[in-house]
Amino acid sequence: THNNSFALRAKILHFTDQPDVHQRTGYEYFADGVLVVENGLIKQVGSAEELVKNGFDLAVCEHFPEHLIMPGFIDSHIHYPQTNVIASYGEQLMDWLNQYTFPAELQYSDKDFALKAAEQFIQLMLENGTTTAMVYTTVFAQSTEAFFEVAQKYGLRMIAGKVMMDRNAPDGLLDTVETARQDSQNLIDKWHGKDRLSYALTPRFAPTSTPEQLAMVGELYQANPSVYMQTHLSENIQEMEFIKQLFPEAKDYLDVYDEYDLLGQRSVFGHGIHLSDDEINRLAETDSQIAFCPTSNLFLGSGLLDLARLEDAGVTVSVATDIGGGTSFSLLRTLAEAYKILQLQGQSLHPLKALYMATLGNAKALQLDDKIGNFTQGKEADFSLINLSPTQIQKSRQQQASKLDETLFALMMLGDEHNIERTYSMGKMVYSCHSCASQE
Ligand code: GUN
Ligand code: ZN
Repeated sequence: THNNSFALRAKILHFTDQPDVHQRTGYEYFADGVLVVENGLIKQVGSAEELVKNGFDLAVCEHFPEHLIMPGFIDSHIHYPQTNVIASYGEQLMDWLNQYTFPAELQYSDKDFALKAAEQFIQLMLENGTTTAMVYTTVFAQSTEAFFEVAQKYGLRMIAGKVMMDRNAPDGLLDTVETARQDSQNLIDKWHGKDRLSYALTPRFAPTSTPEQLAMVGELYQANPSVYMQTHLSENIQEMEFIKQLFPEAKDYLDVYDEYDLLGQRSVFGHGIHLSDDEINRLAETDSQIAFCPTSNLFLGSGLLDLARLEDAGVTVSVATDIGGGTSFSLLRTLAEAYKILQLQGQSLHPLKALYMATLGNAKALQLDDKIGNFTQGKEADFSLINLSPTQIQKSRQQQASKLDETLFALMMLGDEHNIERTYSMGKMVYSCHSCASQE
């Protein structure tokens, strides 16, 4: 095909490790770089000058001198049925779930509806430069099928799972211990490891599962060692009060999940804002991780994540949008809000660290860094072509930026989907901005 092998020439940034912003290590930046893709994989990355010295013909490149190429963004926590729950007024978590989210999720019993919604959701991610995500579907297995079918059609690397809930939600949204077990195992057998897809066991959160259901999830998790587990943890004060009522014998919120063997390296806990030292130490000890969801935490008034406290204790923290508690599909917007959340606590978030988190950091957290996250030779060619100046303010601000860090910080603070000109997955262009000048 036409893209069996091709090369793009632009500014290029990717990470090779957690960046050290003082030593200037952990990343590679080429102000005039070339990315060569072959059969959907990264063949080579380097400076144009260096490639020319080795006999490379720059004439084969499509050239974007003012654009930036970065690895595709990775979103470690997002709800596909909540696209149109975004911007629902006035409530915090528990009321927001009951008033807006559960009614929206009821519609996903209809497979055709779910397919159309999955299509819209994936388009939105791609136009925001997100190529991989860890996704909550709904309680309906057919909605999970719909999501995997659409992700497969676009050749995307995605992790997803059927939500399990057998109490404290509307009747129409409840499964049982046995149907949740059967549906989850069937979906694992059908989709886990198929093409670029993986499965995540998805008990929504402890308030909506009985102890019996959580015990069943623990059994499935232990029986299927390569699947993931995702749920919510300690997001909201009212939620935590509810946990105390429902699980009076538990030492703390995390202990509920611990009791049912749901901790571990492949366990991604959304939020984790209000954690005790014991909980943080237990997360670290079990290599369990937190998905930091800045726009959601602000929108739902949940609280400010203390990133330094988690990282100092050795807990892996990924970044995520949490659509539709979150208010933007853009990882750039998400990083901007993360920066502000940390500012309020006297912490800072350097743009190199932020952009690392959204790419290689999240890939490592999700144990996908052997396949995606940077431009190491042989990795899957998932990346975006980023316009650094799509709006008047960004153009003007970028003209003032003399250093890489300034350019990246302005991108992170001011950028969003308007910056994403093209998105590629496995070397295939899966999104291109129709109104962007260089497309003409
Ligand atoms: N806790 C349980 N379910 C949800 C959800 O859908 N969104 C958020 N933000 N928190 C939750
Ligand atoms: Zn969530």
